[in-house]
Amino acid sequence: MPLLQELPENNIFQAYGILLLKNNHRFVRKLKKYYTPSIHGHKTWNSSFLLMDYFLHNETLGHRKTIMELGCGWGPASIFCAQHADAKVTGVDRDDEVFPYLEVQAALNEVEIKTKQASFEKITKKQFSEFDILIGADICFWDKLTKIHYNLINRAFKAGVKEIIIADPGREPFYELAEKCLDKYKDCDLLDWYATEPEHFEGEILVIRNPDY
Ligand SMILES: C[S@@+](CC[C@H](N)C(=O)[O-])C[C@H]1O[C@@H](n2cnc3c(N)ncnc32)[C@H](O)[C@@H]1O
Repeated sequence: MPLLQELPENNIFQAYGILLLKNNHRFVRKLKKYYTPSIHGHKTWNSSFLLMDYFLHNETLGHRKTIMELGCGWGPASIFCAQHADAKVTGVDRDDEVFPYLEVQAALNEVEIKTKQASFEKITKKQFSEFDILIGADICFWDKLTKIHYNLINRAFKAGVKEIIIADPGREPFYELAEKCLDKYKDCDLLDWYATEPEHFEGEILVIRNPDY
């Protein structure tokens, strides 16, 4: 049975074909009584819409790919991939308090997303080896994360991940990561991008393709 009996309903919005909850939606207000995300995973961030727009304009997602979302938070990009490309998606986050929000939003869109609590620095090559694609939205927000993400990308490619796509509003640690990746990987693009839903939003997309594939 659908999670909501009828739409429209207050404090829900639609972007790129999926339904998402605003912070003052009645389900979110209930969840907040029990779960308190503490590393910025307290809402849907706009960089997720950059990823959705990028995927609509590219072949990346294909059909039924296995995708890991790094720092998934409430999982908007994961939900989009599951819904639009029938992808098998696992959302990874260090903060397991984000998962109840992701699960409610996934149910709202009638998709299933696996979740896994793990830190960027602790995800192993064996864990990466099960995935075709890694995605991340607004996950480069502290200086110390640049090195952590760079090592993660190298580890993931050694494990056989084919492509990594990271969206960002344009924070300094993201540009530092992009510079390091552009130096090391031939097949790497830093793209200015904008999303048009739920409203105009500009940012950046970093696409890095595994040189061994
Ligand atoms: C700015 S939020 C973005 C959430 C989501 N991607 C979005 O676009 O709405 C950053 C997310 O990264 C997670 N995070 C922060 N540090 C992390 C780490 N070291 N390992 C894994 N996840 C982390 C946070 O818990 C949070 O959910």
